[in-house]
Amino acid sequence: MKKGEKIIAVLIALLVVVAVGREIFRSKPVDHAGEIPFYTTASDELKLRASELYKDLKCRDCHRLWGVNNIMQFVPAPSLDGIGSLRDEEWLYTYFSAENPQALLKSRLKPEYRMPSYANLPEEDRRTLAKYFASLKVKDWYLDEVKRMEQEKLTGKSSSHE
Ligand code: HEC
Repeated sequence: MKKGEKIIAVLIALLVVVAVGREIFRSKPVDHAGEIPFYTTASDELKLRASELYKDLKCRDCHRLWGVNNIMQFVPAPSLDGIGSLRDEEWLYTYFSAENPQALLKSRLKPEYRMPSYANLPEEDRRTLAKYFASLKVKDWYLDEVKRMEQEKLTGKSSSHE
C-alpha cells in the first residue's frame, strides 16, 4: 500500500468505527431489562386486606396483577399493574361504587366479560380497594419506554433517531 492509500484506509476505518459507535450509543436508552417496572406504596396492612378482597372477589379471574392471572380464564380485561399511575383513588372509588361501571368506562366486551358492579360491597371494602389500586404505580422509565414503542408502531421509526 502506498502512503496515500494507507491514510485513506485508516480514515475509512475510523469513519466506520465512529458511525457504528454512534448508532450503538445513540439509540440505546438505559437498559432496564429484567427490572420490574411496577411497585406499590401501600402499607403491609393495606396490601394484606386488599389481596384478601382481590382473592375473595375473584378479580383474578379477569385481571392480571403483578404479572399473575388465572390461566384458566381468557377475559381480555386490562392489566391492573401500575393502574394508580393512570387512575387516582377518588376515580377508583367512584368506579367500584358505580351501579353501572360501563357508564364510566365504556366496554367493547361481551356482557359476561365486563367489569361487574361492586356497589353492594361495604363502603370500607370499596375504600380499601380504591386505596390499594391507587397505590400501584409504574416507574417513569417504563412509561417512556411504552411511549417510545407506541411512537415506533405509529410512525415506523424510533423517536430517539429524530
Ligand atoms: C368478569 C370479569 C371481571 C372481574 C371479575 C373484575 N373485573 Fe375489573 N374490569 C373488567 C373489564 C373487562 C374491565 C374494562 C372495562 C369493561 O370492559 O367493563 C375492567 C376494568 C377495571 C378497572 C379499570 C381499569 C382502567 O383501565 O381504568 C379496574 C381498576 C378494575 N377493573 C378492578 C377490578 C377489581 C379490583 C376487581 C375485583 C374486585 C375486578 N376488577 C373484577 C373485568 C372484570
